[in-house]
Formats: sequence, C-alpha cells, structure tokens
Amino acid sequence: MSFIDLLINEVDKGLKYSTQNYQTDRRPYPAEKVEQGPLNEFEKNHSAGLMRVNHSGEVCAQALYRGQAITAKLIDTKDKMEQAASEELDHLSWCNNRLEELDSKPSLLNPIWYCMSFSIGAIAGLIGDKWSLGFVHETEEQVVKHLDGHLDKLSVKDLKTRSVIEQMRIDEEKHSQDALEAGAEILPNEIKGLMSKVAKVMTDSSYHI
Ligand SMILES: [Fe+2]
Ligand SMILES: [Fe+2]
Repeated sequence: MSFIDLLINEVDKGLKYSTQNYQTDRRPYPAEKVEQGPLNEFEKNHSAGLMRVNHSGEVCAQALYRGQAITAKLIDTKDKMEQAASEELDHLSWCNNRLEELDSKPSLLNPIWYCMSFSIGAIAGLIGDKWSLGFVHETEEQVVKHLDGHLDKLSVKDLKTRSVIEQMRIDEEKHSQDALEAGAEILPNEIKGLMSKVAKVMTDSSYHI
C-alpha cells in the first residue's frame, strides 16, 4: 500500500471506530447470559457514564495500537500491535452493547480522542520499539487500575456491566504482561504521571459528554 492508501485506510478506520456502533462476534458478549434485576435511574445513568468512559478508552486503544503499528520498526512489533488492536475490538463491541442496553450513547468526543491517541501512538513507535512496548505496558497497567476503580464505583445490582468490566480487566492485564515479555522498557515516572493526567481529562469528560 502507498502512504496515501495507508492514510485513507487509517482515517476510515478511525471514523468507524470512534463514531459507529462497531460490533464483532469474535468472542461472546460477557453479559449475554447474565441475569439481573432492574436498575433505578441513578444507577443506570452512572453505569452508562462509566461504560461511556470505557468505550472512549477502547477507542483510544484502537488509535494507540494502530498509530504504533504504522511507525514501529520491527515487523514482529508491528504484528503484535495489529494483533492487540484486533483483540481490543471485542472490548469496543462489548462497550457498545452495554451502552445500548443502558439506553445511552458513546461519547461525542471520541473522534478527538482517536486523533490524539493515534498521534501519541505514532510518536511512541518512532521513538523505538522498546519504548513503544513500554508505553503499551504502562497504558494497560493504568487501564487495569482504572477498571478496578469502576468495579468499586459500580452499583452492586449491575451484574451485566460488572461481567463486561471483569473480562476486560483480565484481557488488559494480559496485554500489559505480553508487552513486558516482548521487551518493553519501563517508562520514567514523569512520563507515567503525564499519561495519567491526560487519561484523567479523557475520563472526566467522556463520563458526561
Ligand atoms: Fe481494551
Ligand atoms: Fe488492552
């Protein structure tokens, strides 16, 4: 593919993942067979806010991995990033499902998060594969902590949302470990701190908008 073809392909994917109700049937939806009682209005809105944040996180994951795949130098790293992006598509689809069940919608800000994360991913890839993998390791670590927070904040009655978050947490922990095993460099604390500040802007706004 020429660079222009590649760019058009990436813009198309970016638009699709950040604005469409993306669905996949690669792995079953974790909440499919989970039974639960009705939620009150507050619980429902709160779960929707949390799932909107998780959905935006998955949009960012797509962008980060795809951005890194474009600039990674080693073929093996490129393949790993593409493989991870395709695994994350299940999460994107599950978040869409749960948002629909909660009569809610994904964040309107997703195209902005996609562009921002794609650029960050591409820059990380340019710096070097070890650092790029280090960036993945740290991102996934922060996502795991963040999902733990959601499990605490979620209504105990919302078993469906819980089942989705729990499965995502298992997968993200594996992604973090995989990056480490593939040769990730541990990022300096300053970069880790900056990453959590950027993530906070995203999570605070996607909860509401
Ligand atoms: Fe994910
Ligand atoms: Fe992940």
